[in-house]
Amino acid sequence: MAVRMLVDRLETAGRLDQVGEPLQRGVQAVLRGRVRDALHGVWLGHPLHPALVQVPVGAWLSAAVVDGIPGTHRAGTVLTGLGTAGAIPAALAGLNDWASLSREQRRTGLVHASANLAAIGLYTGSLIARLTGNHRLGRRLAYAGLASASLGAYLGGHLSYRQAAAVNQAEPFLRQIPEGWQDLCARDALADGQPLKARIGDVPVLVTRTESGVTAMIAHCGHQTGPLAEGELVTVDGADCLVCPWHGSTFRLADGAVLTGPAATDQPLLRTREIGGRIQASLP
Ligand code: FES
Repeated sequence: MAVRMLVDRLETAGRLDQVGEPLQRGVQAVLRGRVRDALHGVWLGHPLHPALVQVPVGAWLSAAVVDGIPGTHRAGTVLTGLGTAGAIPAALAGLNDWASLSREQRRTGLVHASANLAAIGLYTGSLIARLTGNHRLGRRLAYAGLASASLGAYLGGHLSYRQAAAVNQAEPFLRQIPEGWQDLCARDALADGQPLKARIGDVPVLVTRTESGVTAMIAHCGHQTGPLAEGELVTVDGADCLVCPWHGSTFRLADGAVLTGPAATDQPLLRTREIGGRIQASLP
């Protein structure tokens, strides 16, 4: 209970912003364009950071196991090196995601990152100790590193499962749409390439007529629920696209594909049809 209260208090710890805000500006100034999108996982259709962390977590945990078995110095050294090397791209991808989080999420994320950076430092020390023949010190530093990485993992879980960082925020809206065809708007109300905001119950839906037909997109951005109806219409490689007003994720209107992050997943589209001059939509 005390741990939960402590972690909850991180979200409101405004002092962390003194470090977090300049760091956020620095990350956004350095990581840009294709590098930024690649690290977000736009090419993968899924955030890259959780996939990359499997390497250090797996290698470091395995090192902890083999360190308890006599005569396995070499395996312990290889696993420590592998985990430490694998932690660098994982940290970079995490830092990139962190810079596009909400303020409360960034506060927790800053402590999460600090714990993991401490783990990388301890494992680097462990690796050096092992390579210079001091395996006892190497094991001790590795166990300290594992404790720090475990704290980082706990906070990472809090960020994802409690604070909903880096999850597809459009999915819950999709789940609110009832089965069957739902009325959206009159066909004549649609102008070419001009999204129209309609609703299905409480769910806002953007209806657009493009060259490929009428599309209906969940109007809350999957990254952090930004209002896509207020986004800018642009053309990318000849396709009509919508740019989220909050952090600039770009989605193709015809199929919802994400073209630039920080969103890493496509924006959900509904199926559409026209009946008696009315546009209707149903779950995909
Ligand atoms: S809310 Fe962040 S890009 Fe849309």
